This record gives sequence, C-alpha cells and structure tokens, in this order.
Amino acid sequence: MSENIHPEFSRQVSGEEKERLLGQRGQVIWFCGISGSGKSTIANALERKLHAEGRYVVMLDGDNLRSGLNAGLGFSDEDREENIRRASELAKLLSNNGAIVLVTLITPLEKFRRQARGVVGERYREVYVKASFDECKRRDVKGLYAKQAAGKIKHFTGAGSQFEEPQNPDLVLDTERLSIDESVQKIYKFYQEIGI
Ligand code: ADX
Repeated sequence: MSENIHPEFSRQVSGEEKERLLGQRGQVIWFCGISGSGKSTIANALERKLHAEGRYVVMLDGDNLRSGLNAGLGFSDEDREENIRRASELAKLLSNNGAIVLVTLITPLEKFRRQARGVVGERYREVYVKASFDECKRRDVKGLYAKQAAGKIKHFTGAGSQFEEPQNPDLVLDTERLSIDESVQKIYKFYQEIGI
C-alpha cells in the first residue's frame, strides 16, 4: 500500500513563510504528568498569556483529543501508544506550520516520550508537571481517584498502570511546591528562552 503513496511538500507554502506570516517560531511544548498534576491548568494559562501577546497557539489536550480524533482509544499500553503517536504527528504538522503547540497528555512511559520526541524532532520540549499520586488523589478535580478507589476504573495511571518518572525533561514544574502562578511564570520564562 505505502509504495503507492507519494508525499510531496515542495509546492506547499513553506513553514518558514508561515512563521514569517505569524511572526513566531513553531514549537511543541509537551506537558507530561499524572491526572490532576496541573498540566491543563498551566498550559491553558500559558496559552492565554501568549495569545494576549499576539502568538498563535494550539492546545492538544488528552481529554479533548479523546473526544474526537482519538475517540475509541482506551487506556491499555497499546491504546495509549496510539493516542500519543497521533498527537505527536498532529503536533509535528502544526508546529511545522508555525503554531506553538501545547500538548497535555499523561504520556506515562519513557518509551512514549522518546517516540514523541522522535516524531516531532528538534522543536520538542518536554515539561514534567510533577505531583505525587497522593496529592492528586487529594485534589481529585475530576472525581476519578474516588472512582478508581471504588474499583470502577482499571488501568488507572499510578494505580494498576505505571507512570515512569521522566529521565530527561527540559523543565520540571513541581506543583506541590509551586503555586499555579509560579508554575505559569516559570513555563513562560522557559518559553521566552526557547521562543522568539
Ligand atoms: S495518555 O496516557 O494516553 O497520555 P491522556 O492524557 O490521553 O492519557 O488521557 C488522560 C485523561 O483521561 C485523564 O486526565 C483523565 O481525565 C482521563 N482518564 C480516564 N481513564 C483514565 C485512566 N484509566 N488513567 C488515566 N486517565 C484516565
């Protein structure tokens, strides 16, 4: 099948031309961490801040993607891998077209993060949003930890499904030590160092 597919990009408007149009460089900031660690909260605040400065930002959030593009995928290792593969390809496509892409996926295994970095390439930056299982259970924003404790969710990340500590993140945001505002300041400063 693939021998009959002929991708070609040379006639398209180039990524550099789009970056000039937008006045920014395409980036992928990949937030990983367990459910309730603060990934979406921090990324949403960063998006809001960058948008206010005239940046074009696209959010790729796990729960949102799982309601559309990735509907039908569950939480086995195989499904998570496919979920992450699709998100990586989408992040690559968008960032190659000038967008600043904020991805918020648990991305529980080191192997998945390596794969995402491999797909996206040099624009990939990994941010580990760190909080312990007990703290996220205490926050339980979505009520999932209570459901898990009641035996209603199998393969739950941190209980029945493993979360591997990231080995070489580009930035760590410890949300048990930092306030949301402090985390947002820190990621904003990080963006300024890697961005325009
Ligand atoms: S990932 O492992 O494939 O990267 P993803 O970020 O897309 O996960 O989805 C995680 C979100 O799905 C959580 O924020 C939570 O709202 C919801 N969820 C539902 N079931 C589970 C589960 N078994 N483990 C973790 N999160 C779950």
